[in-house]
Amino acid sequence: MQFLGAIRGFFLGCGLLRTIFKGRCYNVLIHGYFLLNTEKVLLRVENLKTYFPVHGGILRRKVGEIRAVDGVSFEIEAGKTVGLVGESGSGKTTVGRTILKLVQATSGSVYFEGREILGLSESEFRPLRRSMQMIFQDPFGSLNPRMTIGAIVGEALEIHFRNFSKSERRDRVASLLQQVGLQPEMMRRYPHEFSGGQRQRIGIARALAVRPRFIVCDESVSALDVSVQAQIINLLMDLQEEYGIAYLFIAHDLAVVEHLSDYVLVMKDGIIVESAPAEAIYNDPHHEYTKTLLAAVPQLT
Ligand SMILES: Nc1ncnc2c1ncn2[C@@H]1O[C@H](COP(=O)(O)OP(=O)(O)OP(=O)(O)O)[C@@H](O)[C@H]1O
Ligand SMILES: [Mg+2]
Repeated sequence: MQFLGAIRGFFLGCGLLRTIFKGRCYNVLIHGYFLLNTEKVLLRVENLKTYFPVHGGILRRKVGEIRAVDGVSFEIEAGKTVGLVGESGSGKTTVGRTILKLVQATSGSVYFEGREILGLSESEFRPLRRSMQMIFQDPFGSLNPRMTIGAIVGEALEIHFRNFSKSERRDRVASLLQQVGLQPEMMRRYPHEFSGGQRQRIGIARALAVRPRFIVCDESVSALDVSVQAQIINLLMDLQEEYGIAYLFIAHDLAVVEHLSDYVLVMKDGIIVESAPAEAIYNDPHHEYTKTLLAAVPQLT
């Protein structure tokens, strides 16, 4: 009997050891899998909601809310482009601004390089702000008309690279202007002395100055004519290849987004109604709204 008990104990022990060992292997595998995957994911947005209060009456009380972003989730891998399309007022800009903490989120989470950022205070977030930039639709509106281009691009360097000397800063501005296809001599000129396309290049140089890892491009080429659009898009793609920058590319023009994006999100009334790799969205749209958007793309035949 004792002998049988010992054998049973032996097998039980082996089973236990195997379970523990298997569990460990499993854990190692799971952790490894997540480590490998999270390494690629630069930005993860989880159930993001941004509501704006609506005030009314004599006392300007809150009478309702605009659900500009109503539960949006997606991921962007390092060095990749996610296109965000949808009609006017669907909440695209608000998504971009909320991710960059320019607008306060109502709820949800945003992880940048694995770190939740919505809960960070302004001072905690400051070192990260550099890595996350925005390029706007109307660069003229966002360029101070009283500052020279050199000062505008150099300002970002002054804030984020305080140890740069004046001449180092000037050299860096000159090389940034060259990178975006402008001449370094242009740094002495003012925004009104440039064309729309050139102004957009200045906006890109300013965003690039701080070596970001992620840029929200909000309708960045919408105001430009088609040939200049193509130049700016090519510039953005070259910069992505060189520096591994990830873009959230916001546009209502599906043709532009198709050309640029690895993955596309279609947004309507604050929610994402369809999301898929760019090719799949164009070749096999599922949602009625996506089909309507695609049907609205002018065909050049
Ligand atoms: N600061 C704000 N206060 C109140 N409501 C706002 C604010 N910003 C945006 N909204 C509202 O949120 C909704 C989404 O606006 P948003 O600018 O994000 O849309 P969009 O998709 O970028 O549109 P467009 O293509 O015209 O730029 C709109 O109804 C807008 O009126
Ligand atoms: Mg917008």
